[in-house]
Amino acid sequence: MKLPNVSKSPKIIQRLEWVTDFKRSFERRAARYGDTFTVNLGDEPIVVLSHPKAVEQLYTTNPSKFGMSPTLYKVALPIAGARSISQVEGEAHRRSRRLLMPAFHHKTIRTHSELICELTSEEMQKWSTGETKVMSDVLKKISIKTIVKCVFGITGGLRYEKLLNVLADLEGGRAFPLGIWILYFDFLQKDWGSWSPWGKFLKFKQGMDDLIYAEVEERRANPDLARADILNMMLAARDEDGNGMPDEELRDDLVALLNGGHSTTVASIAWALHFIHSLPEVKAKLMAELATLESPAEAASVEKAPYTNAVCQETIRLYPPSLISLLRVVKAPVQIMDNTFEPGVALTASMYLTHRRPDLFPEPEKFRPERFLERKFSNFEYHPFGGGSRMCIGYTLAQLEMRLIVATIMKGWDLELASNEPVKFANRAFSGIRPACGIPMVMKKAIRSTVTSK
Ligand code: HEM
Repeated sequence: MKLPNVSKSPKIIQRLEWVTDFKRSFERRAARYGDTFTVNLGDEPIVVLSHPKAVEQLYTTNPSKFGMSPTLYKVALPIAGARSISQVEGEAHRRSRRLLMPAFHHKTIRTHSELICELTSEEMQKWSTGETKVMSDVLKKISIKTIVKCVFGITGGLRYEKLLNVLADLEGGRAFPLGIWILYFDFLQKDWGSWSPWGKFLKFKQGMDDLIYAEVEERRANPDLARADILNMMLAARDEDGNGMPDEELRDDLVALLNGGHSTTVASIAWALHFIHSLPEVKAKLMAELATLESPAEAASVEKAPYTNAVCQETIRLYPPSLISLLRVVKAPVQIMDNTFEPGVALTASMYLTHRRPDLFPEPEKFRPERFLERKFSNFEYHPFGGGSRMCIGYTLAQLEMRLIVATIMKGWDLELASNEPVKFANRAFSGIRPACGIPMVMKKAIRSTVTSK
């Protein structure tokens, strides 16, 4: 089978480039080959698609024609486990989504609005006039607390505090003594005791799993049907034979949710704050809209805060936290535009590249929220959360968090960027679009009476 625009460099070089500077290696290929190109990193060649028609065909192809990527499966296995929603395929995947989707329905998610604003205000209460805060650090705390509350329904206690620390270590890469690299290279994964890098990682993982299993055990022992958290829904779920979810499956799905979304959400909000404070006309329009809201929680409604919503949409158009969708490995021939792909090839859609098409987004490098107020984009032209049967399960929560946190911060404090230097991108595999500096900002003045300036 002839694959389109194949990269010629050796696999090991392509893999190193991908891990050390994903964004740049990706941009180089896109500049050279255009809409569609093929990279070779591991077990299967990966074809990157970005034309909206190709994206549509990929997302709407019957999912039974695709399987998991052995490469990504192996990389994710040590943390995600074998039964996580993002690791399983076919009926097991459909079952996981059926089970988890109700918890992410927008009506359910909106019940967390007040909490998200409160958690944000709580962090802001700690700020003092004149000090500098790295926004990613602040946002991490808020978003980790939010997901722990949504998943477990807890907001305090020793286990809660430990969980927050474990998730922060996972997100910050501290769980991996040699860096995220260790997941990409099998030969580094040798347990030579607790002093060795892999041994340290396994100890970390055991600590995380013990916390999760302890919470599950306690909840099984003391069922409370009135609780509205995700774990309760998972514990109540039964298959056709009346069996509940086994503990290992619960653990893997809980980790997928706890770990799946906060670093993407954090990066998106940090970038939004960066754009708002770099562009005075954007800030002025945003502040005018926010002034019409009695409380930031009203930004939960897109109708009440259309410009705030457009700022968030434009942020993840320009800097989508994932440059590509999950890999879909072809199991039966798939036709995408002019190409027929045979079994064994991995296909992915690049939101980063589609979002930079001048025919869809004129002056694509320009941050212009108005484009989302002027026209509606299809799910294949604008797809920061992927699409089809694998579309991000947390997209309603992520969008809500973005609007609410931006609204709470902007209504609460007058801030300014600590530096006007161009922001560098974090250099980590699959994370090319995170701001390396985390966006440091100076707290100029508290605006709201509820937020005191020390
Ligand atoms: C701005 C924030 C976020 C972005 C941009 C984002 C983006 C994505 C993308 C691109 C995918 C792959 C979709 C595909 O291949 O079609 C994905 C999958 C996923 N996301 Fe998100 N995500 C975000 C936040 C979240 C949050 C908050 C959660 C959890 C609460 C979450 C949980 C997941 C899970 C579990 C999957 C795997 C779904 C499956 O395999 O069926 N994400 N996300």
